[in-house]
Amino acid sequence: MKLCSRTVEANTDKMGRERIFSMDEVAKHNSPTDCWLVLCGKVYDLTDFHPSHPGGSKIITDCAGMDATLLFEPIHPSDIAERLLSPDVKKGLVDKSTIREEHIAKPEEEEKEGDILSANGKPPIETMLNIFDFEDVAKKTMSKEGWCYYSSGADDEITLRENHNAFQRIWFKPRILVDVDKIDMNSKMFGYNTSIPLYITATALGKLADPEGEVALTKAASNTGILQMLPTLSSCSLDEMLEARSPGQVVFSQLYVNRERQRTLEYVTRCEREGVKALFITVDAPQLGRREKDMRNKFKKQGTAVQKGDEAAGKVDRNQGVARAISSFIDPSLNWKDLAWFKSITKLPIILKGVQCAEDALMAFRHGCQGVVLSNHGGRQLDLARSGIEILPEVMEALRMEPGYTKDKFQVFVDGGIRRGADIFKAIALGATAVGIGRPTIYSLAAYGRQGVEHMIDIFKTELEMCMRLMGTPTIHDIKPAHVITKNLSDHFAVQPQDNLMNGVYEPLVTQASKL
Ligand code: HEM
Ligand SMILES: Cc1cc2nc3c(=O)[nH]c(=O)nc-3n(C[C@H](O)[C@H](O)[C@H](O)COP(=O)(O)O)c2cc1C
Repeated sequence: MKLCSRTVEANTDKMGRERIFSMDEVAKHNSPTDCWLVLCGKVYDLTDFHPSHPGGSKIITDCAGMDATLLFEPIHPSDIAERLLSPDVKKGLVDKSTIREEHIAKPEEEEKEGDILSANGKPPIETMLNIFDFEDVAKKTMSKEGWCYYSSGADDEITLRENHNAFQRIWFKPRILVDVDKIDMNSKMFGYNTSIPLYITATALGKLADPEGEVALTKAASNTGILQMLPTLSSCSLDEMLEARSPGQVVFSQLYVNRERQRTLEYVTRCEREGVKALFITVDAPQLGRREKDMRNKFKKQGTAVQKGDEAAGKVDRNQGVARAISSFIDPSLNWKDLAWFKSITKLPIILKGVQCAEDALMAFRHGCQGVVLSNHGGRQLDLARSGIEILPEVMEALRMEPGYTKDKFQVFVDGGIRRGADIFKAIALGATAVGIGRPTIYSLAAYGRQGVEHMIDIFKTELEMCMRLMGTPTIHDIKPAHVITKNLSDHFAVQPQDNLMNGVYEPLVTQASKL
C-alpha cells in the first residue's frame, strides 16, 4: 500500500475558529495524493474522496491546489460536501484577497454541434411539436458531458428503450357518443391538486441542463399547476428550491438514504418543517448502474493520462469507483426493517420509488407506506428490468385482492418512457394515480430553459386532452381499464410498431474500437 505523505492538520485554531489559508498554501496541495481545492471560498482536502467521486476523479485532480468554484458551482450546491462527506474534509476558509488569476480553474470551451445549425443553434420553440423534438435539440446543442450523463442507460440500454416501447404494445378501445365537449384533466396526488396527472420526477444535477437548474423546474411546475419531486442530489441547494416555490405551491422530496442516518434525519426533518408534503424514498439504487455512454465520454476526456497508465487518473473509471462512492452516500444495507424508523421520524406520507413487482408493492402496503412508484430509474440501473407500465396491471390486481386496500390509502405511480399524452392515459387506465416525467423535463430545460419545460408540459396537456376526447372520457375519473387492450403488454419479443421519432434521436451504443 502506498503511504500518503500529506500532513493532517487541525481544521480549527486553538480558539475553535475556522482556519484561514492563503491561496499559496492551498496551491502546495496540488497532486492526486495531496489534493486540496477551494470551492465557494472554502478549502477542502479531497484526497480520499476523489477516487470515488461519481463524476470521476480526474475532474477533481485536474484542479488540485486550485480554486475550482467555476467548474463546481454550475453543477453542485455549495453545501454538497457538508451534506455528503465527513466533516474532516473541510480544512477552513481561503483568504480571497490572495487568489490570483493562475489559481482559478476554468471550464473548457465546448465545441457545440448546434453552433452550425442557425444563429442561436436552435429552432424556434413554437416548432417543438412533440416531446422528442426537445430531446433532439438538447442532443445537438447541450454539452457532450451533460448529454451523455442524461441520456445514458445501464448496460445495453434495453430497458431504457423498452420503457417507451412497452406503451406501444397497449392499444385503445375508444367509446363513442359520450359528451366530450369539456375535458377536465385536473386530478390529485395525496389530496393535492394537479392540472394533469403528471409530476416532475427527481433527476440529479439540473445545472448540467441550464444555469437555473432545479429552481427553473420549481417555477415551471408552479406556472403550469403541476407537482414536483425535488431530488436529493440536486445542483441547487434545498433552500434555493424551497425558496423558489410560489405561495402555497406543493412539492415532494426524493430521498437517497445516507449510511449516516443522522444526515437523513436532518434532511427529512428539514423537509417536513419547510412544508414538503411527501417523501419518495429511492429503493432501486443500492449501487449505480453502469452507464457506458457516460463512462466512454469520460474516458475520451481523460486523453493521454490513461494511456500512459497514470494510476490516479485511471481511477476515473467508474467500475469500482461508483460502487464505493455511492455506498458512502446511499446506504446499500437499507431494508424493510428500516421503514419503522422512517415512520418514527416523520408524519409525511412515505412512498417507495423503484418498486418492480407486485410482491414488493404488497410489502410496501403492509409496512404502512402510502404508495409506490413503479420505476426502473429510467433504465439507468438494472438492464432487462421490466418497464413500470408492464408491472402496473399485476400490482393493481394484487392490491385489489389485499384486505384494507383503497386507492386513497395507497397510491401507485409509474415512471419511465412516458413521451405522449396517450401514455399518460394508458397508465391512468391501468390504475396509476399519476406518472413521473424524467428526461423530457431536463431535455426541454436544456433546450429552452424554464420556458421549454412549460411548453413541454403544455404539449402533454394538448395530447392528453385530445386522447381523452377521442376515447370518450371527459374526466380522469372516467378513464377505466376497459379502455385499453393489454393482451401483448408482457410480450417482450412482439413485433413493435416502427417508432421513427425515438429511433431517430436515440444514439446507439458503440464499442471503443468502432471508429478505427
Ligand atoms: C466537494 C465534494 C463533491 C461531492 C460530494 C460530489 C458529489 C457528486 C455526486 C454525488 C455526483 C453524482 C450525481 C449522480 O450521478 O446522480 C457528482 C457528479 C459530478 N460532479 Fe461532483 N462532487 C464533488 C465535487 C466536485 C467538483 C470539485 C467538481 C468539478 C470540479 C465536480 C463535478 C462533477 C460533475 C461534472 C459531475 C457529473 C458527472 C457525470 O457526467 O456523470 N464535483 N458529484
Ligand atoms: C439524468 C437522470 C438523473 C436521475 N437522478 C435521479 C435521482 O437523483 N434520484 C432518483 O430517485 N431518480 C433519479 N432518476 C430517475 C428518475 O427519477 C425517473 O425514475 C426516470 O428518469 C423516469 O424515466 P424517463 O427519464 O424515461 O422519464 C434520474 C434519471 C435521469 C435520466
